[in-house]
Parts: sequence; C-alpha cells; structure tokens
Amino acid sequence: MDQKYLGFQCIHCSQEFEPARVRYVCSSCGGNLQITYDYKKIRRVLTKQALAKNPITSIWRYLDILPVSGSSGLSPLQIGWTPLYPSVQGGLGDKLGLKRLFFKDDGRNPSASFKDRAGAIAVARAFDVGENLITGASTGNAASSLACVSVPLGMKTIIFVPQTAPQAKIAQLLVFGATVVAVKGTYDQAFDLCLEATQAYGWYNRNTGYNPFTREGKKTCSFEIAEQLDWAVPDFVIVPVGDGNIISGVWKGFKDLHALGLIDRLPKLLGVQGGESDSVKRAFEGNGKIEAVSGATIADSISVSIPRDGEAAVQALRESGGLAIGVSDAEILTGMRRLAREEGVFAEPAAAAAVAGLLQAQARGVFRTEDKIVTLITGNGLKDVASAMKAVGQPFSISPTMDDLRQLMLRLGLDSATK
Ligand SMILES: Cc1ncc(COP(=O)(O)O)c(C=O)c1O
Ligand SMILES: [Zn+2]
Repeated sequence: MDQKYLGFQCIHCSQEFEPARVRYVCSSCGGNLQITYDYKKIRRVLTKQALAKNPITSIWRYLDILPVSGSSGLSPLQIGWTPLYPSVQGGLGDKLGLKRLFFKDDGRNPSASFKDRAGAIAVARAFDVGENLITGASTGNAASSLACVSVPLGMKTIIFVPQTAPQAKIAQLLVFGATVVAVKGTYDQAFDLCLEATQAYGWYNRNTGYNPFTREGKKTCSFEIAEQLDWAVPDFVIVPVGDGNIISGVWKGFKDLHALGLIDRLPKLLGVQGGESDSVKRAFEGNGKIEAVSGATIADSISVSIPRDGEAAVQALRESGGLAIGVSDAEILTGMRRLAREEGVFAEPAAAAAVAGLLQAQARGVFRTEDKIVTLITGNGLKDVASAMKAVGQPFSISPTMDDLRQLMLRLGLDSATK
C-alpha cells in the first residue's frame, strides 16, 4: 500500500507510532491517536494551483492529504464539496448585523449528514487493511452514513444504535441493508457493546474517537471552506459538539492547511453543546478533564454522556482560542425554525444547535460586524421529523370546500385577491 501518512501520535501522552504498530488507540495510555504527515513532501503536490485544476468535486479531491491509498475502497457517492451559502438578503446575517455569515450545508451529503465524510474514510481504510466487514456504534448518523457509503463497495456493515434513535435514521440503516442491532440502552452503552463485539469477533471498527481515521474524513470540511472562501480564513467556525470528533476534525483540517502554507492564520472555533450533554463545555471551562454527564438534550446526535473524542475537542477549542456554548432545547428549536424560514435550510436538531449557538454568541457580543463566520449545518432536518414538528406546530385543517378555505384566508388576513 502506498503509505500516505507518517504514522500516529497520541493526543494524550504524545507518544508516536509507526503505522503498523497500532490499530486504534495508544498502546501506552489508551489515548486517542492523531494521524501525522510529512507536510514538506505533501507541500510539493498539494498547491493552490493544483487544486484549482482538480476536477474532482468530492472529498477525494484531497487524496494527497488523506490517509488512504486510493487504490480501492473510494466510495463513488458524492461525498463532501457541499454548498457554502452566504446568508441571504434580509436573512439571519442582516437581522443579526453580521455582514459575512455563511452556512455550510452538510445535510446535502448522500446519507444527509456530515458523517459521510468520516464513513467514507473508515471504509477506504478497511479496504486498505483487507477487511470486508465494518462495525460501528452511533447515535444514528455515523451509522446510517457507514451503511450508505459502504453499499457501492460491497462492504458489509453491522451497526449498533440506541433503540431510541429517530425512526428515519433506523429506516436508513435498514434500507441500506446493514445488520442493525438496536440496543435497549443509551448511545454510550451501544458504543461499549460494539467495542466488546469488535474484540470478540475481530471485526473492523469505525467507532468515533476510537478509530483515528474518522477525524481525517471530517477535516475535509475545512479544506472546502478555505477553497470556497478563496483561501480567506474565517474568523469563526461554529460546530455542534457531541463526541467532539467533528470539531477536532475541523481543527485538524485548518492546521493541515496552515502546515502546508496554504493559509496564513487559523480560525477560532465555537463549540456548541445541547442541554445536559455538555461534558466538553464543562471540561473546556474547567480543568480540561472529561467527566460523564446525563447527556439529555433534544438533539439526539449530540446526546452523549462521555464524549469519546472529548480530549481532542477541548484541545481544539483551547488551541484556537475559541469558546464553548451551551444551548437549551427551546433555543435549538428556535434555531431550526429561523434557519429554515430565514435561509431556506432545514437542519436536524444537532445542526440547529449550531444556529442556536450563533444566536446566543451574537447576543453575548462575541462577534464584530465584519467577522467572517461559518456555521456548520451537519445534518438534514428530515432525519428527525418528530423534533421538527415541535418547532413548528400543526398545519391548518379544513374541509375540501371553498367556503372553509375563504373563512381560513379571512382569519389569516390573506383574503384579498392577488395576482
Ligand atoms: C448532525 C450531527 N451534528 C453534530 C454531531 C457531533 O459530532 P461529534 O459527535 O463528532 O461531536 C453529530 C454526531 O453524530 C451529528 O450527527
Ligand atoms: Zn498515549
């Protein structure tokens, strides 16, 4: 296999490992691993000019700095290169007095969430190490993503999810043909069971935090943001945080670009957590140690008791000089409604949490008018229709007669004829 990366470094004890020496986590302390690169070598091929000529519009555009061989196992689905929308005229940017506000719509990925970026890399890695079955535990999106991106490659998937995962996510898993184990318990319990099963059966495991390759998929979002902004680095990137793998991946992406000399500064990260799923926020604001919390929040995708990549998330927030924000269920539903009604983008609750974080940070005076702010919309609203209905109420119900319709229009003040 063409070795594209140097090896691994433990984010906890900093020990370095040759690629063949570890599979998942640090063999000395159990810490999560970071993948390391020879930036001097990559600098020669990954230039702005080369990217400008590259016709590929998916995460595979960045193969030069991804830890997979590329010889097989690259999902042909359109993963990544999602739109970066400037806030519309009269939209949230104008209302909040923010002149350069953007939304990166990762709900546009094949399985409708950001997680496709990670699933694709994990599957490519499984191919590189000769595996034909991959397992994973997830709050729902990482799993449905893994099931989806595996299909065109014939990779088998065994998935562990909490039984309480939204129906749409479970439906996706079944539709894509995964073997679905719905665990009567929390995401954290599903995660632990999946790890035990991995050891017992020898499967290849994609679990967030445990598998160091997922972060590498997630970093591609930052590459896209930089290119889509014509290499002008944002001042803030707002990221919803559960396990902390997306935010640490986003940070890795910007750091890679900086090490390659493609950008000259780094953004501040704003990590948003929901309700009592705020372990990363507590650690960031406290002594840095991740401690278990109840995990309660309406945003199922970021409902986590023990964040599995929490240490990396805290490091990312600290290194970037960023901020952690906690948002309530009510703020999340407001964020969902406002993003949909003022920008035309439908976000699932976890993604709406990023918008809630944006609104709260603005109210707290975090931003200047000129700041360039990117809000990551990490999952599509159709993933969790039941929560969406809580944000919007019910439609008007009438008999199929013009009389009833006229009465309704009168009540709504829409009764004057318009052309
Ligand atoms: C839609 C969505 N947003 C945000 C997150 C948070 O990502 P992480 O758990 O890596 O912090 C997830 C994770 O499942 C997700 O599915
Ligand atoms: Zn270690």
